[in-house]
Amino acid sequence: MNTTLAADRWQSVRDQLVGLPGGDGVNIAHEAVDRHVAEGFGSTIAMRFLGKHEAPDDAGEQYTYQRLATETSRFAHVLRGLGVWPGETVFLLAGRVPRLYVAALGALKGQHVVCPLFSAFGPEPIKQRMVLGNAAVLVTTASLYRRKIAGIRDELPVRHVILLDVDDQADAPPDTWAYGPLFDRAIGVFQITATSPETPALLHFTSGTTGTPKGALHVHDAVAMHRATTEQVFGLRRGDVYWCTADPGWVTGTSYGIIGPLTVGATLIVDEAEFDAQRWYQILEGQRVDVWYTAPTAIRMLMYAGAEAAAGIDLSSVQRAFSVGEPLSAEAVKWGIEHLAITFRDTWWQTETGAMMIANTAEDVVLAGSMGRPVCGIQAGLLTTTDAGEIVLDDSGHVIELDDPDRIGMIALRAGWPSMFRSYLDNEERYRKCFADGWYLAGDLARRDPSGSFWFVGRADDVIKTAGHLIGPFEVESVLNEHPDVTGSGVYGIPDPVAGEIIHARIVLRRGVEPTDQTISSVMAHARRRLGAAVAPREIVAVDRLPITRSGKVMRRVLRARELGLPEGDLSTLEGPVTDDQATDHEGSDS
Ligand code: WT7
Repeated sequence: MNTTLAADRWQSVRDQLVGLPGGDGVNIAHEAVDRHVAEGFGSTIAMRFLGKHEAPDDAGEQYTYQRLATETSRFAHVLRGLGVWPGETVFLLAGRVPRLYVAALGALKGQHVVCPLFSAFGPEPIKQRMVLGNAAVLVTTASLYRRKIAGIRDELPVRHVILLDVDDQADAPPDTWAYGPLFDRAIGVFQITATSPETPALLHFTSGTTGTPKGALHVHDAVAMHRATTEQVFGLRRGDVYWCTADPGWVTGTSYGIIGPLTVGATLIVDEAEFDAQRWYQILEGQRVDVWYTAPTAIRMLMYAGAEAAAGIDLSSVQRAFSVGEPLSAEAVKWGIEHLAITFRDTWWQTETGAMMIANTAEDVVLAGSMGRPVCGIQAGLLTTTDAGEIVLDDSGHVIELDDPDRIGMIALRAGWPSMFRSYLDNEERYRKCFADGWYLAGDLARRDPSGSFWFVGRADDVIKTAGHLIGPFEVESVLNEHPDVTGSGVYGIPDPVAGEIIHARIVLRRGVEPTDQTISSVMAHARRRLGAAVAPREIVAVDRLPITRSGKVMRRVLRARELGLPEGDLSTLEGPVTDDQATDHEGSDS
């Protein structure tokens, strides 16, 4: 692929943006909000928020594009007024309430870097990410603050904590700000200053196999891809009603739960409540949803709830539905067609890619079980790997592309698309390792059929995918190892019909400690407190020893294979008691 051609390709994607007035660059919040007001669509409904206790067909709290423009401007002023500067990071930790969305878009107006966190995280993952991301501001709620932040506040770099649901400063705990008075004092017009497309905009944490979570940094240019894919894949147009069920604490909930659909002028539905099959069907019907973006875990839960849950519900408004995050089985696609008359279309991407890369678009005839084809000018290839999942280079140092339909290779994307991550925070080396010979290496294995459709095979490493979330085993192990009775642990995923995978742990106890129920419960309680229910292991079993590599790294794949009764492979394992030293030495090489 020659580079001029590639540059032109992205030019046409970028040409869909209006840019800041006066040729002052590109700002996500302008493309998502202010441009619609400028174009005369200020009275279109941008977002409809359904509170936890509101009926699924309620009008909810409505935000027109005009209201969103005004409130995000005020929030941009709030941050400026607190002395927060462009480039500083604003962390968000809250459920799906309107002010969270206002804060995200307002912070983008001010060129702050937005980092959403999942509100179900416990204090430990929150602290780790806020320290790594050098958080200047935390936007959260009074109850989350009390439960998760107050106890670790001294260890966080934040200068300001803003409590979204507090309207009177007298009700705010010491060293926090009530949103209400700050917001009331701020004016509703904010002129976005010149924003280079390369200005950092979004920070998303994602877990690898080893080490602490990585912070993938995205820039304002990403919005070109958010918009182009929203149009091409979803076929979403101005005024369409759109529902993304992902939480904004994850990349899907930001790229497609906020930004992409707003850039085309759609009306977004946001439901504060947790999953409930009947409620979901009622929302699809009651809100007259045109386009629905969800995940295989949710689809499996709908399947478990049985088609009865949809009985008597009119789903005819739903023109298209899409899925992301894990393999969408052919069985799930068939179930949707048969029981809901909805064809779920699979899409594939990653935190690092910032936007959909491979998908079954609105126009495509769906091949059940396939992830679809590259979208919006993306060039995707399959590269030859060793059995251990490492990329193979030829004699002249180039990667080797596969075109044989029966061969499995690593998914790779020709580098340079607008929403490509620009770095891993403080981890230049890790970033460099994601690229070879002009390709971004996705770490997923796939096949490609003669029609050019990709079929997912698995991950080249062993991160755990539970309920749609990627979790690095190391993150969980390091918390387990903190327990006074634990000297070492190995954490891995076990297939689960609902969550995709669930987390199991094997631990080695300190000499002299008996593996009683009480001991195990105490470790379990510690894990839940530190990690939150979403990330804590479901099962913890004490063992005498763990399989380790020569360098002392726990071989999680072996633990997993043992539990599942699979062959352990030709991995040269050393069986040994994990000493305190070895147990904490997981950061070492992958040997
Ligand atoms: C990993 C990325 C991108 C939004 C959500 C997840 C897996 C993603 C699919 C799919 C099979 C999929 C991959 C990928 N994945 N989509 N359609 N079929 N697997 O972002 O947390 O960065 O996870 O999710 O393994 O590498 P993420």
